Amino acid sequence: MPAPHHFITGAELDADRLDLLLHRAAALKEAPQSSRALEGRTVALIFQKPSTRTRTSFESGVFELGGHPMILRPDEMQLTRGESVKDTALVLSRHSAVIGLRTGDEDQLNGLAEHASVPVVNMLSPGHHPCQAIADLLTLKEALGDLKGRTITYVGDGNNVARSLAVVGEIAGLKVRIAAPSGYQITDTPAELFEDPVEAVKGADAIYTDVWVSMSDDESSAAARREALHDYAITDELLDHANDGAFALHCLPAHPGEEITESVLYGDRQRIWDQAENRRHAQKALLELLVSPRAEDG
Ligand code: CP
Ligand code: NVA
Repeated sequence: MPAPHHFITGAELDADRLDLLLHRAAALKEAPQSSRALEGRTVALIFQKPSTRTRTSFESGVFELGGHPMILRPDEMQLTRGESVKDTALVLSRHSAVIGLRTGDEDQLNGLAEHASVPVVNMLSPGHHPCQAIADLLTLKEALGDLKGRTITYVGDGNNVARSLAVVGEIAGLKVRIAAPSGYQITDTPAELFEDPVEAVKGADAIYTDVWVSMSDDESSAAARREALHDYAITDELLDHANDGAFALHCLPAHPGEEITESVLYGDRQRIWDQAENRRHAQKALLELLVSPRAEDG
């Protein structure tokens, strides 16, 4: 059996594997029924947090690859009645080719990866959202071609989506900038950090944003977050400061009127809806890569 090869932060990919993944994703988008990489196999998908895109793109993607997506909600699992992450990992590894987890607890994710004998995929944790990042890169590649030396500016809350964009973007040779107000910036990142959003988007080929209140944020901080992030919205005016032809990205769900204007979200200066579709194609390529035998495993 091949050794497990998890996908937790995105840093597990080297430049060649990421390039291969993005090429496969484009090919699978062209011919969605062309791969049976999961024929007769089951993928366990545990959602401890709400999801629209991740759930539907994984569920449809696993089906298109010939596999069965086994969706598991916390209230259906003994995990919420005291069973350990270790035992959950051991049992799910006996039934599934891959285990996906969306969680608010980084320790649970790492524990699952430590004890599972099959690949574990991070479907969003408080710190990371690498499945989003591979779809983001596919979307950028469709628009820009070669990503090396291109610039994308993330504007808004320095969160899981910003962190993963920076991690995976760096592997692809993309220049990632993050503009966030003091107190909302991430520091553990290869991205170039800015406080002024206008300065940060100068020379950018695309501008990216995400919600101002994430699922792992305390709802009681929501009003303060909205106030602090008020000047970090994607607007037509902000796009005007970026390169000609620059477009907006958003991982969604969106809150039009907060982090992005309605005119940008539904206008012709965005690739947001392609980006949402690309979740499926990129994740199918990821699943192919994770279940394929690797030469170094002998
Ligand atoms: N972008 C994203 O992960 O969306 P969901 O929370 O709906 O899965
Ligand atoms: N940063 C957001 C992403 C949602 C897809 C969150 O964690 O809630």
